[in-house]
Order: sequence, then C-alpha cells, then structure tokens
Amino acid sequence: MRIDILSAVPELLESPMQHSIMKRAQEKGLLEVVVHNIREYSLSKQKQIDDYQYGGGAGMVMMVEPLARCIEHLKNIRTYDDIIYMTPDGKRLDQPEANFLSMKNNLMIICGHYKGIDERIREHYVTKEISIGDYVLSGGELGAAVLVDSIGRLIPGVLNDGTSALFDSFQDDLLAPPIYTRPAEYNGWKVPEILLSGNTKLIDEWRHDQSIKRTAERRPDLLDNDERLTMNG
Ligand code: ADE
Repeated sequence: MRIDILSAVPELLESPMQHSIMKRAQEKGLLEVVVHNIREYSLSKQKQIDDYQYGGGAGMVMMVEPLARCIEHLKNIRTYDDIIYMTPDGKRLDQPEANFLSMKNNLMIICGHYKGIDERIREHYVTKEISIGDYVLSGGELGAAVLVDSIGRLIPGVLNDGTSALFDSFQDDLLAPPIYTRPAEYNGWKVPEILLSGNTKLIDEWRHDQSIKRTAERRPDLLDNDERLTMNG
C-alpha cells in the first residue's frame, strides 16, 4: 500500500513514520508513506500557502492553488482509492474504518492547518473526511499519524504474529482482556492462576469472559443486547 500525505508541516510526521511498526512495515516493502510539503507547490515567490478568510473572521485558510497543484500532480501518477481530509467535522475513526482502509492500494491524506482548507478542495477532490475524536487539534498531522498507524498495522505481514491484530480491542467489538508477563509474582501481586495452567481452552474462555466483563464495565455501549442479557443473567 502507498499513502501520500500532504502537509504544511511535514516535520510533524517524521518521527511517527520512522519508528517501530511503521518503520518495519516500510522496510518490509508492505507500506510506502510519502510526505509532501504543500509549500513546494506554491507559485508565489514567498511560497505562500495560507491567506485571510473571505467575509472576514479570525484565522488563516489554506489556499486552493498549492493544494490543488499537489493533488493534481499525484493524481496524474496513480489512481487513489480515497482522498482523505483530516478534520474534526469528519466521520469519527473506528476499527471498521481502519480495517476497510487497510485493504486499499493508494490513499492520499490531506492535513489541514490554521483554520482549515479552502472549501473548494473538499468539494472537488476529497472523497472521505475523517476525525480522530471530538476535540480540535492544531493541524491534521497528528490525526494523519494516528490514521496511518491504525491502517498500517493491519496490512497482512506487518505484525510478526499474523493473528495478533485480530485479537485487538474493538476487533470484535470487545475490549482486550488483561495481559501479564513474567514474573508470575511481583511484590505479592500474582498473575491469575489460569494463565499458568497451560490449558488453552480454559485460557481462551477466561480471556473471552474477561473481555466481556471489561467491556460491560468500561464501554457498555459496545455490547449487543445478547451479551448484555448474558451479563445480567
Ligand atoms: N484536525 C484538527 N482536529 C482534528 C481532529 N479531531 N481529527 C482529525 N483532524 C483534525
């Protein structure tokens, strides 16, 4: 998969893309992330990319031309499955959306800055708008990093243990069960006996029960009616 990210502050995306799982995904050739500096597409001498709002009002707006030139340049090279704009107005990112996007070949992600981008870019190019939560960030870059991470780790072969993404929280609408590693006892705090038993069937059942319990306590909105009835009965 290839992901092109358009940004006014490309430095913000450097570290998240160059370490840990994202680094591994790119080294394995499973994911290619290319960050484009929108400023390079400005035709003005000062490399201007933002301007005052028509109609007045505080905050600068990212201009249509540099963004459009960058998008057109990329679209001439390849076809994009989606052109995504990161914005608090967008659809809230969730695991099904990450799963869906992880199956695409080419994605473009536009990061807004300042007050946002000229509406005409949204009208004429953007096919999907994504928010990472109901709060306002100072730009789309951190949201884009979250989105790319959530997608990248789902690409087959990226995680060492091929099955582990399947057992993540949310993957079956349940939160993950508690996890432990050595030592079996620390400071008098013991790992649940069942996890040391070696009985994989009982361990799987325990984990499932713990997932349901944890979800009921912390995110009851995720449980369907059947599971809620089981919990209450
Ligand atoms: N840009 C600013 N706030 C954002 C948010 N909550 N999600 C995605 N992009 C954003």
